[in-house]
Amino acid sequence: MKVFLVAGARPNFMKIAPIYEELRKYPDRFEPFIIHTGQHYDDEMSKVFFEDLKLPEPDIYLEIGSASHAVQTAKIMIEFEKAILKENPGLVVVVGDVNSTLACSLVSSKLLIPVAHVEAGLRSFDRTMPEEINRLVTDSLSDYFFTTCEDANDNLKKEGIPEKKMFFVGNTMVDTLLKFGANHKGTSTLSKLGVREKEYALLTLHRPSNVDDKRIFTSIIDALEEIQERIKIIFPTHPRTKKQIKNLGMEDKFVSMQNIIFTEPLGYLDFMGLLTCSKFVLTDSGGIQEETTVLGIPCLTLRKNTERPITVTEGTNVLVGVDKERIVEESCRILDGNGKLGRIPQLWDGKAAQRIIKILMERL
Ligand code: UD1
Repeated sequence: MKVFLVAGARPNFMKIAPIYEELRKYPDRFEPFIIHTGQHYDDEMSKVFFEDLKLPEPDIYLEIGSASHAVQTAKIMIEFEKAILKENPGLVVVVGDVNSTLACSLVSSKLLIPVAHVEAGLRSFDRTMPEEINRLVTDSLSDYFFTTCEDANDNLKKEGIPEKKMFFVGNTMVDTLLKFGANHKGTSTLSKLGVREKEYALLTLHRPSNVDDKRIFTSIIDALEEIQERIKIIFPTHPRTKKQIKNLGMEDKFVSMQNIIFTEPLGYLDFMGLLTCSKFVLTDSGGIQEETTVLGIPCLTLRKNTERPITVTEGTNVLVGVDKERIVEESCRILDGNGKLGRIPQLWDGKAAQRIIKILMERL
């Protein structure tokens, strides 16, 4: 059976890698195809992940690129439909919650190709987030729901998904973390940036709700201004954020902060190195909330809500929102030695992809 594995944007690559590897163990059953939509296309947003994760070149590259949500989604649909009609896969696996996830599940279900959603059932209950819409639509179309935690199953049950279609399997991003995380380029990246282990905080910021709104972005920057007086902050800058710093005229504010170190977006192993050795993390990413929980690194999430509440209830994550005082207060708490401790959630053990393939072999 041909199995399409869809990946489009940066966090998808880490999620498909272990599934691809597992499928390849059963050549008499599965022929995996990696479909890269091209939602992310710069080398440092895409190619470097294929190299770091030892993935082969995509079998099909749709070359979509950036555009408004409607245009990007529509273009992916048009090109993905052609790929499906040409190859006629028996299953389409989509991961996460990006526009590529939504576009490809929609096309597949209209062509009556079964869809498996990996990381199904996560909900922030905030429909102003484009990813929440992507999650809801994908889950209303999928045939197999592979979840990372029990609360995702509960969300799906409330939405009327039959329990027999849900499989709590763990987290494929954690599979990748446990496999490749130890190979990180920690020390070399740290020395290149002139920092030492546990003597810096790591910052990532790219949500439109944070970087497209000048008032909110300013509040975050004001907090950073105070935090960097106590600890260096490394800031790999997402292309959207870089653009917004310029568009909103924020460059001067950053220039005056001596202890913020900007880098280009980093590859997986470089980023893992920085993450593992950091004192704490400030982020608005979804995946990083999970990675810090597994690594036991305190994480402050600069959002009002999270679709990954298990990282708060069990892990090292604290939702601090975007209020300056709160961000500074929680950062100081960590710097004073009182960072949150956590435990690793159930089944985040590096075997999620194995469980997924076992279930697919039984059902397909
Ligand atoms: C996308 C996902 C988001 C995910 C994030 C991870 C959606 C709706 N959003 O957001 O869920 O957390 O990826 O990074 O799917 N750009 C480049 N080079 C690239 C890619 C993008 O310069 O390779 C620039 C473009 O100007 C683009 C902007 O970044 O307009 C945003 O890219 P886009 O893919 O639209 O959304 P992200 O913010 O990356």
